[in-house]
Amino acid sequence: MSEDRVKIGILTSGGDAPGMNAAIRAVVRTAINKKIMVYGIRRGYEGLISADVFEMDGKSVSDTIHKGGTILKTARAPEMLTEEGQSRAANVCSVLGLSALIVIGGDGSFRGADELSKKGVNVICIPATIDLDLPCTDYTIGFDTAVNTGMEAINKIRDTSGSHERCSIVEVMGRNSGYIALWTSMTGGAEEVLIPENGEADIQKIVSQIILNRAKGKTHNLIVVAEGIGGGQRLAEEIEGMTGIETRATVLGYLQRGGSPTALDRMHASMMGYYAVEKFIENYRNIAIVFRKGEYISIDIGEALAVEKPDVSDLYRIIKTLSI
Ligand code: F6P
Repeated sequence: MSEDRVKIGILTSGGDAPGMNAAIRAVVRTAINKKIMVYGIRRGYEGLISADVFEMDGKSVSDTIHKGGTILKTARAPEMLTEEGQSRAANVCSVLGLSALIVIGGDGSFRGADELSKKGVNVICIPATIDLDLPCTDYTIGFDTAVNTGMEAINKIRDTSGSHERCSIVEVMGRNSGYIALWTSMTGGAEEVLIPENGEADIQKIVSQIILNRAKGKTHNLIVVAEGIGGGQRLAEEIEGMTGIETRATVLGYLQRGGSPTALDRMHASMMGYYAVEKFIENYRNIAIVFRKGEYISIDIGEALAVEKPDVSDLYRIIKTLSI
């Protein structure tokens, strides 16, 4: 009987992000309400290529809204970068009879979806990455939780840094994007932030700033470094060597990818999941659900990928203004 029903597939791909489960839940429950059948696809595109799928019902997403990670599992799928992998994935969609494939993930996941759309798969993308590095949207699921984790870590590091009058380096995630570093540093009150967008760090300038700040009465220092800039540990050693000030590095790493999603992440995830299915029902094809200027809208997937990275220099300048 279920064979007659409209079917959609759902997967999470790339780095997991807190709130992915809330998005999956919203998609599954909205679809079931509309009598649409949902196939959960395990391990992202990897699972799509190998047709690792199962039918989801309302209960498969019970007790998941508060959980970090993704109940569908995820993977980085190098095969999806090849023509052969993409064709195999598109073929599985066709064999399963999917009327749409809902892809929850970041830039790489969107690019994979774009390739599938060129092979006839109707893709609907939901932005989820802790990095906030999808310029087509003002928000990506997971970012708020990651920043709060970073900020709380800084609160704690600040206590010990102040007690020992040390310089503390906190390395946060973000290989190609400085958003987590910028927001963590603003909300944690750090005095310097090093991000990939600003190019290689000028160590001499950082050291001069530390010395100046100490002369002005600061008894300890906090510097946030994005992963993309490179080793926080090495930077700590350099600073200690050049200033004589005891310097310690803390690499937060994957701590920021986990944890129960914040209310903001659950909210965006639920709304985006709901609209993904609504837009499918309204016959939209090959779209991304994005949050822009306070509204959830859908844009063409190609258009979504073409948006240029915004300039972050203003945010950086304000952080520096507030850090004196
Ligand atoms: O998902 C985003 C992210 O956490 C980046 O901040 C980081 O650079 C990258 O993923 C790490 O990827 P992986 O989990 O494959 O090591």
